[in-house]
Amino acid sequence: MKIKAFAPGKIILFGEHSVVHKKPAIAVAINRGVHVELTSRNDNIVQVTVPIIDYSAELELVDKKLNFKLDSQKKIITDYIYEVINLFEFDKGFNLTVNIEMYLGAGLGSSAAVSVATLKAVSIYAGFDLDKKTIAHKAREIEIKIQGAASPIDTSMSTYGGIIFIDENFELSRINFDMQLPLIVSNCEISGNTGKLVESVRIKYEKYPKIIGNIFTAMEQIATDAKKALEKGDSKKIGHLMNINQGLLDAIGVNTVELSDMVYEARKYGSLGSKLTGSGGGGCIIAYCPENSDEVYEQLSKKYATFKCEQSDYGVQAKLID
Ligand code: MEV
Repeated sequence: MKIKAFAPGKIILFGEHSVVHKKPAIAVAINRGVHVELTSRNDNIVQVTVPIIDYSAELELVDKKLNFKLDSQKKIITDYIYEVINLFEFDKGFNLTVNIEMYLGAGLGSSAAVSVATLKAVSIYAGFDLDKKTIAHKAREIEIKIQGAASPIDTSMSTYGGIIFIDENFELSRINFDMQLPLIVSNCEISGNTGKLVESVRIKYEKYPKIIGNIFTAMEQIATDAKKALEKGDSKKIGHLMNINQGLLDAIGVNTVELSDMVYEARKYGSLGSKLTGSGGGGCIIAYCPENSDEVYEQLSKKYATFKCEQSDYGVQAKLID
């Protein structure tokens, strides 16, 4: 028996940081994410392989359980996989290969996609086909257990897919959008520390409440206008709003020289809009390229780890192969 599952990663199109201060944001599930392949075995061994980090391990089921003990210091991507496996009982072992076709720790929701895709595959093997609500809930619990805190954005995007508007009360709703959103993602391969960056913005807000407050209000207007632009398919406006959002993210101090270099490089070669995505301080930029996408991709990939993607209308999916 073989089970294949896929869960998408995500980018934040608008509203990172301001969302922490109760302003709306827009997130997009992307058609790159995590592929999980589970093959049944006739013994009690569970073999876990994660090629992107050269990881492979064999563990034994005892009384149908793995009971893998996490090292609370390490917080690595395999923790998410073992947390999922620990939730279930199994009659027989299995081989699990987790292929991550994204950058790790770069704001693309890789850990959520790992949890969600693994939950889908492993739960089917254990005899349950969990519904999406349960998957999103359990994946978020795992994120909270390992990371200490987590917004529901990443796990919801990986589970449900689509383009999502997150309102000031953190309610998530799908944006109706019937065009493609061709994006290029480039990674400067320097990690930003989300917790520290969120804290640095909070300190700035305390120091300059009016100025930073007005910037958050402008970001709110951007996300609100962007929702309408997406619904209308107004690509020029989407691009303009991304560029304005990038300027404001710079103003609150989460941009870097490397991110700026990628952002301007993308615009120089024809991107309609480019900005950092996620917490900043490093990590990735996104470039919106309804035109010139080959040129922008080619130029960015000369200097940076880069991939092309589009929105994924679908969330987690699985296929059973005999
Ligand atoms: C990080 O990907 C996005 C932030 O807005 C933090 C958060 O929403 O939890 C910076």
